[in-house]
Amino acid sequence: MIQENGIIHIQNFLPDDQRQKLNIEIDKISEQFLINGNSRASVWLNHNQFEILNPIVNIQSINLLNIAFEIYKRLKEITSISYTLTNLRILDEKKKIHPVDWHTDSAQNNIRGLLYLSGGDENNGNLSYILKSHKEKHEGSTHNIDIKKLNLESKVYKGNSKPGDLILLDINGIHKKNTVNQHRRILFFEFQEQSSKKRPKTKIIFDNSKITKQMIQESNFLFYESNEIELIDPLYYNNLILHTPLKIFKYYLASFFKLQIKKILKKFNF
Ligand SMILES: [Fe+2]
Repeated sequence: MIQENGIIHIQNFLPDDQRQKLNIEIDKISEQFLINGNSRASVWLNHNQFEILNPIVNIQSINLLNIAFEIYKRLKEITSISYTLTNLRILDEKKKIHPVDWHTDSAQNNIRGLLYLSGGDENNGNLSYILKSHKEKHEGSTHNIDIKKLNLESKVYKGNSKPGDLILLDINGIHKKNTVNQHRRILFFEFQEQSSKKRPKTKIIFDNSKITKQMIQESNFLFYESNEIELIDPLYYNNLILHTPLKIFKYYLASFFKLQIKKILKKFNF
């Protein structure tokens, strides 16, 4: 149980056909890059890592907001709390992306959902967690925690997930993302108690076609308290990322020349 241990592993949460559809669409968008005029695109942080921009709007084959709603319902069933959805991302990483060492995000009642579309097994970006550590109030350093020194090695839960599995974890607990040796692709969700103000919530961009009547009946799922104004904007960059891969420039140059040729042809009415 998540209240007891801080983590729960739900197998086969996402049916295979939905996962396959999503993966096909994500692969396609991964080849489209964010330049002028192209907003259904991926943002590449380096050669081995990308995100899909505004996933709820840009993914068309599956209603991602509905997957979040299914998680919300499951969480409510388990905890009797109706959490608010505060973040939804698609993250893709491959080949030796650096692990994130033992740490705590140091905020109680924040639940993260990791839905694996690829990877998540041992040595492939799986999650490790110190059972019951979510109940502690963490003071001092929250990063690079030495679990040997704290005598916590016997409490390590080593996640070993399969594509389609969902892991829900209380991020106040001590956790760690292991190295991605091949490929890890996840839907990343965050849920917070609506009244909790300890950690700023992130705004979510979605379009009205994704909202269902059932969602509106569960108003905590999407709506913040009206006096909550300190919200974090969704992911955006206003400068070129230092490790932008070369293929983005090639794509940009090819698009630029195609556009110029089109302009010239138009001028001569070809
Ligand atoms: Fe974390």
